[in-house]
Amino acid sequence: MNGKRITLIIGGGIAAYKSCELVRLLRKAGHQVRCVLTKSGAQFVTPLSLAALSEDKVYTELFDLKDEVEMGHIQLSRQADLLAVVPATADLIGRMAAGMADDLATTLLLATDKPVLIAPAMNVRMWLHPATQRNIETLRGDGIQILEPDEGAMACGEFGPGRLPEPQSIFDAIIAMLGGSPKPLAGQHVIVTAGPTHEPIDPVRYVANRSSGKQGYAIAEALATLGARVTLVSGPVHLPTPKGVHRIDVETAVEMQAAVAGNLPADAAVMVAAVADWRFPSADQKIKKQDGAPPVLEPSENPDILAGLCRSPLRPRLVIGFAAETEQVIDYATTKRMRKGCDWIIANDVSGDVMGGDRNSVHIITDQGVESWPDTDKAEVARQIAQRIADALA
Ligand code: CTP
Repeated sequence: MNGKRITLIIGGGIAAYKSCELVRLLRKAGHQVRCVLTKSGAQFVTPLSLAALSEDKVYTELFDLKDEVEMGHIQLSRQADLLAVVPATADLIGRMAAGMADDLATTLLLATDKPVLIAPAMNVRMWLHPATQRNIETLRGDGIQILEPDEGAMACGEFGPGRLPEPQSIFDAIIAMLGGSPKPLAGQHVIVTAGPTHEPIDPVRYVANRSSGKQGYAIAEALATLGARVTLVSGPVHLPTPKGVHRIDVETAVEMQAAVAGNLPADAAVMVAAVADWRFPSADQKIKKQDGAPPVLEPSENPDILAGLCRSPLRPRLVIGFAAETEQVIDYATTKRMRKGCDWIIANDVSGDVMGGDRNSVHIITDQGVESWPDTDKAEVARQIAQRIADALA
């Protein structure tokens, strides 16, 4: 897929410098890039750098009479295969959502009939503000593709969602939108939990379960194959990290919850882990045998990671839970879906050798009802689930 024409609108934010690398990646892949620099964008990158990288003129003003003669703003928006806004500031997003056309960038965005991708980047509070979230929903409703910001330390010294994704992720999302990639999840971030949790009792003992992590790891791999950026939060398992997957190792349920929360925002979450329901006050020293008196373990309930995520203000658009049951599989799982507030529950009967084995037979429970898949190997279950996720996020 060569020679696509991309109009790149650069808003005014500290992340604007990343747009230079994006231009380089697009040019290297053989695409034409026409840069439009907003007035505030020009405070962060110079037209000269963008002109050098794009090997083209850089457009900055709406009422540049010479350009209106050579190429009116309507042509500038129509003669593109895609418009991308990188970074999209809160102000630019607000003006887009309101349908304003008070500078060249917003005029192009209003005049275009081509696909539009925006990559928001701003301070965490600005991103989470209801006004910004409302505007984002409006733009989504208008058919604009939103590349969710990353979470991390920000230039303003705060920590949270609001960082511009890396140029490579933006590049992947653009290429996917142009239909040049068979990777339908490019640009989407998915968190997967997998494996058991270990709840320590003392420095040498813990309470665990039989989960092998195989199904969760297979799902992480299948999602990455479809182009997703996958964060795999894994309990203790003996499995290699799937290719292209970012793995975070945890031991306890509390650590797993913190790792999930710390890696939001995400477009989807698949909670495959068999999280221990209980934890114990862990003794500092090894508990010694005492004649005839077994130790009394006083459990306290672990946080429900899935239910908490469903109620979080950063709830991913699609949240999927698993339900490991040994009886009344569909009934229990249906109730579980309602109780936890997730979109789908994937239920399996673990009374046989499913835990640790290579095969699985699952039922997918959604608000549309129950669908039962025939018994198959875990990799195939994973591929089908990943494809479903891609269809749901499309
Ligand atoms: N789960 C979770 N946090 C917990 C317990 C479970 O996130 N503390 C998630 C699992 O990852 C899974 C779903 O909730 O996606 C259901 O897990 P399951 O163990 O079947 O359900 P429980 O809530 O533990 O219910 P029960 O043990 O009563 O069947």
